[in-house]
Amino acid sequence: MVLVNGKAVQTLSVHDRGLLYGDGLFETLAVRGGRPLQWPRHLARLKRGCARLGIEAPDAEGLLEETLRVAAGARRAVVKIIVTRGAGARGYRPGAGPATRIVAAHPPPGHPPAYRRDGVAVRWCATRLGLNPALAGLKHLNRLEQVLARAEWDDPDIAEGLMQDPDGNVIEGTMTNLFAALGGELVTPDLSRCGVAGVMRERVLECAAALAVPCRIRVLAPAELETAREIFLCNSLIGIWSVRRLGERNVPRGPLAERLTAALAEEG
Ligand SMILES: Cc1ncc(COP(=O)(O)O)c(C=O)c1O
Repeated sequence: MVLVNGKAVQTLSVHDRGLLYGDGLFETLAVRGGRPLQWPRHLARLKRGCARLGIEAPDAEGLLEETLRVAAGARRAVVKIIVTRGAGARGYRPGAGPATRIVAAHPPPGHPPAYRRDGVAVRWCATRLGLNPALAGLKHLNRLEQVLARAEWDDPDIAEGLMQDPDGNVIEGTMTNLFAALGGELVTPDLSRCGVAGVMRERVLECAAALAVPCRIRVLAPAELETAREIFLCNSLIGIWSVRRLGERNVPRGPLAERLTAALAEEG
């Protein structure tokens, strides 16, 4: 089911700025047994994004009601919420028009269970992320870098591709954030110049802190991943995937991915 501004339609103005300029934001969240997981965090990121872009944030209660409505009856679903600046006159100048809200339910992604059980093989993507501090961290609608990166491979044995910034620093996967166990610390890349600050990344950081695992957000070089005792990827739909192979190299499986997965499952 799809709701556009609360109505069960699947049409949108051809003048919508989400379509014209990618002028908007999105959230993708898991719904289990009618409950949207981590709703307050998704809502908070959406609101932060709206504030940064100067888009009117949707009413929180109404958005929750629409999320529950589109996923009603599904044991498991993925709900995608899109908020755009709405339709406007031609040209980049933002108008004062009302925002557009799209709330849609989809089936769960259907990744092979082995990904979670045995870990995943990942590759390096040639496509680099551009630097854009003004948009860094946001889950905005401009995802062409990820589209180009994901088009680089179609081998079903490769679950994810890692992306670097123009200086070669590791930033994230095409649809995931990355953690590496390095020198007694759990390290995740600094996202102040590019990348999406994931809800699951935030949860992993908090959960690791609660388990007294030292964590650091910092610039991460690809060569460091060669010495990592463990690497894992995360997002709101998959939870945590530990990496078993990076390019041609086998990556050791460590205890942290499993410990964190268990602790996160307890939190619900
Ligand atoms: C580019 C990118 N980075 C990171 C993430 C992880 O975000 P989250 O944990 O909020 O699902 C996603 C999720 O789709 C993504 O597309």
